[in-house]
Formats: sequence, structure tokens, C-alpha cells
Amino acid sequence: MSTAVPVFNPFSPAFQADPYPIYQQLRQIDPVHRVKGFRFDQWFLTRYADVYEVLNDSRVTVDDLPVRLAEKGLHLRQTEAMKSESSEPFQTLTQTIGHWLFFVEPPDHTRLRSLVSKTFAATRIEQLRPLIQQQVDQLLDRVQPQGQMDIMLDLAAPLPAAVSAAILGVPECDRPQLTQWSYDLFHVFDQPLSLQDYQRIDQIAAKFQQYFTELVQTLRQHPQDNLICKLIEASQEQKLTDAELIAFLSMLFSVGQETTENLIGNGILALLQHPECWQMIQENLQRSEVDTLIAKVIEELLRFDSPVQIISRTATASVALREHEIQVGDKVHLLLGAANRDPAQFTDPDRLDFGRSPTSRLPFGSGIHYCLGAELARLQGQIVVRAIATRFPKLQLITDGLTRRKSVVLRGLKHLPVTF
Ligand code: HEM
Repeated sequence: MSTAVPVFNPFSPAFQADPYPIYQQLRQIDPVHRVKGFRFDQWFLTRYADVYEVLNDSRVTVDDLPVRLAEKGLHLRQTEAMKSESSEPFQTLTQTIGHWLFFVEPPDHTRLRSLVSKTFAATRIEQLRPLIQQQVDQLLDRVQPQGQMDIMLDLAAPLPAAVSAAILGVPECDRPQLTQWSYDLFHVFDQPLSLQDYQRIDQIAAKFQQYFTELVQTLRQHPQDNLICKLIEASQEQKLTDAELIAFLSMLFSVGQETTENLIGNGILALLQHPECWQMIQENLQRSEVDTLIAKVIEELLRFDSPVQIISRTATASVALREHEIQVGDKVHLLLGAANRDPAQFTDPDRLDFGRSPTSRLPFGSGIHYCLGAELARLQGQIVVRAIATRFPKLQLITDGLTRRKSVVLRGLKHLPVTF
């Protein structure tokens, strides 16, 4: 292999189609990859040990995207084109994501996360098993007579929306609209974006804000047993402000959507491309240890083709990493997809292997920002894989030409057409 520093362009079609060969080169030749910037540098980390270390280093804090967006908005307001605007550009978006856990540090992060951590703990999530199973059964019943389906459209997309709506207490009829907004809002993580993109996402943030403000007003008058009402109670006890409450609801509905879809889509695709693994699941379906196996399958699928590929941080102090010195204000991008294929952590990392020892993995990040919805995503993945394996043992891919969604942060398919 050449020892020249590999060209790292996460927007290139080749990278989007298959990032793993580039990750391998970066991990080997340039694991702390630096891209010099005008004011601050950007660093791209690909080794498991480095990613883990930075995620657990309190000197490297959350991405300062809300601050940067606010600055950009202020700057634009002063330009001729935007002088007539009544408010600063991207104001709703900035305020919304500014309250999201992803962009908040302690003590606010600890306070806000503690309001929802019990709801998303493993034991509470396990109680949702019958609901998730029922949703999966209904979705599969619908496509069974056709003998074929698009895993993404018929199953992966509607499932997380139905589950999040049930947890929060969002009326069923509003789900499709909120799901569509969720895709657009999540796009804010995909940096850098054009002015038009930010304007569009800002409008979506405003729609989410209006929707949840009205729903909260209704539920204040007619309380029900759901997460929104628990958060309303917490706001009455002044544990969070009204603005935090509304912003939190858009986060809770939207961030589990495309991420969970990608676990289902990437996961089923990997199983179809590894018939021996699919066969192994089939052979174990009637055994008593099937639950343990399916749990291992999901952990391995999350590692093998991680739904979230990159998360970002900002250095608040100078940090030494290998022979490099990351400076205050520099951006540090943690390539989870690369870390999860690091041979120093996983033997033969490019092999899909359900028998791996349960060494720690990073599909859900690490440290205080570890994914709030990890148990919920795992359970949905487990129920889906088991249901499909049981009902459609002859599952087959219809096409070779799969199209991926355009994203640097997320890795997922647009369609996954199969016959069964
Ligand atoms: C397979 C599906 C999922 C994947 C791969 C995933 C991945 C991640 C990752 C990598 C992080 C860390 C972000 C960082 O450190 O910057 C994260 C955080 C988060 N995730 Fe997930 N996620 C998934 C599903 C969900 C679901 C279903 C929810 C629903 C509530 C959710 C809610 C969150 C929240 C609120 C955070 C921020 C936590 C914090 O900052 O304290 N995620 N997720």
C-alpha cells in the first residue's frame, strides 16, 4: 500500500458508496488527519483508541454549531439582502438545536438528560416490546400478499415514527408530516450547508416549534399518560423552561428516525450480502438461545455498517494527540464508522461475525453524550430481524443498483427492494 496521505473527501461519490477502504488507509497512514482552516483546523480521527479517548475527554466539548449559526445569522442580518428581515436568519433553528442534548454541556446537560433518562433505560424500553412487535407485524402483514417490499419505505421508515409517536403521545394522523420534517431537521448535522439549506431547515424548525407548542397547550388542558405530559409536569416544577421543553420534543421525535431506519436498512442489506449469516439465524430460530443470538446480530450489524458515521466536537483547551497538538477552537471529527472497523480493537474487522466477544463498540458514541435512544434502537432492530427471518426465510435482494441517501453524517439507503 502507498504511504502517501490518502485524499479524504467525504462528499465524493466513491466515499459515499464505500468509505471503508479510505478509512483503512487513514487509520494506517494518517490516523489524526488534519485539514488546515482559516481560523481553526479540522481533525479527522479514525482509530478506535483515539476516538474513545476524545469522547471521554472533558476538554473536548460539544460542537458549537448553534453559536456558529447564530453568528452567521447576525452577520447576514447586517448584509443588504437581509436587512429587511424582521428577525435574525436561522433564529428558530439556532434556538431549537441550542437546547438539544447534543449541543449542551453540564450542568444543563445533566439536568435535561435526567428528565428523560428513566424513560429510555433498558427496563422501561423492554416494556415497549409488545407495541413494537405489533407495529412490525402490521407492517409486514400489509406487504405479505405482494411477495415483495421496499424494506426502507414499507418497514424501516414507518416503524421508528410509530414508536416515537407512541412514547411521546403524538396523534397517529400527524406522524407522516412529522416524519418528513424529521429528515429535514436532522440534515442540520450535515455540515457544511448552503444558505438556502439553512433557511429551509430553519422553516422546518419553526413548523416543529408551532406544532409542539399547540400540542403542549392541548395536553396541558387534557393530560394523558405519555412522555410529553411528564415533561410538561417537569416544566411546571421549573425543571426546564418552556423553550427547552418545545425544543426537546422536536429532538426526541426526530433524531431516532433516520438513525434507526439506517440500522434496519444497512443491517438487512449486510445479512442479504452474507448468506451464511442469514442461514445461521434461520438455523437458530427455534432454539432457546435465539434471543441472545439476535442481540449479538444487532450489535455486530451496528459495528459493521454504522448508521451514524461521524460526530463532531470542539476543543476548549489545547490537547495533545499522538504527535499532534489540537488547538483551542479546533473542530475534531470522530469517524465512528472507521473506529468500529479498527483491527486494533476487532480481529478481522471487515468480517461480519456474530461470535465476536462483547468488546466495546462505538456506534452510539461514548461518554456523557452516549446515545439516549440506544436501547430503543436495539430493541427495534432485534424485533425486525427476528420477524423478517421468521416470516421471510427466502428473502432476496431485487436489484444490484442501490442508491444511498446523500449525507456525510449518516450512512443509509434510499430503497432496499426485496422479494420473499
Ligand atoms: C441505530 C440508531 C441510532 C444510532 C446509531 C444513534 C447514534 C447516536 C450517536 C452516535 C450519538 C452520540 C452523539 C454525540 O456524541 O455527539 C447519539 C446521541 C443521541 N441519540 Fe442516538 N442513535 C440512534 C437512535 C436514537 C433514538 C431511537 C433516539 C431516540 C430518543 C436517539 C436519541 C439520541 C439523543 C437524544 C442523543 C444525544 C444524547 C446526549 O447528547 O446526551 N438516538 N445517538
